[in-house]
Amino acid sequence: MILEAFYLFIPAFLANMAPVLVRGRIRMLDIPLDFGKNFLGKPILGNNKTFRGLAIGISAAMGATYLQYLMMPYIDGLVDYSSWGVIGFLLGLGAIVGDALESFFKRRVGIKPGRPWVPFDQIDFIIGALIFVSLYSFPGWDIAITVILLSFFLHILVNHLAYYMGIRKERW
Ligand code: CTP
Ligand code: MG
Repeated sequence: MILEAFYLFIPAFLANMAPVLVRGRIRMLDIPLDFGKNFLGKPILGNNKTFRGLAIGISAAMGATYLQYLMMPYIDGLVDYSSWGVIGFLLGLGAIVGDALESFFKRRVGIKPGRPWVPFDQIDFIIGALIFVSLYSFPGWDIAITVILLSFFLHILVNHLAYYMGIRKERW
């Protein structure tokens, strides 16, 4: 069950990680999604949510679902990845939108871009991906709850590792 939930949402995990890995390396599309604008004196989303992240996130998710499509003969999963493009697009866009929406609320409560906000940082992208992919096909409540719990712990684990490897400045 945990493995299945993880496998289904690999594209969303990658979509959430990809923008972090390319930041600083790719200048292209390094434009804030909110165009640097404020709302009631605070940034709408903040400068850490960029079009580059959106593009890379969707690409990473679609790349992953394409691989999952190629893997179909070898793994007996429950999902038909023939429409890998739709599934990948929804998981990737959902992950990025969920994360951006979380940043919106983070800015409203006055947390600076890049500062942690547990537990929302950990699950924002998965909830976004879940809602968006459900437009195509709802994976069921058991998978949904499993993957939310999984992302909470995985996100903390990955961030701590990235922190000690010097990829992230924030441990959480
Ligand atoms: N990123 C991006 N575009 C996005 C999402 C993320 O470029 N749409 C990059 C940014 O460089 C960001 C990094 O990925 O700093 C990590 O993203 P995340 O941890 O989700 O954001 P934070 O930096 O913590 O910013 P916020 O406080 O707004 O959540
Ligand atoms: Mg976030």
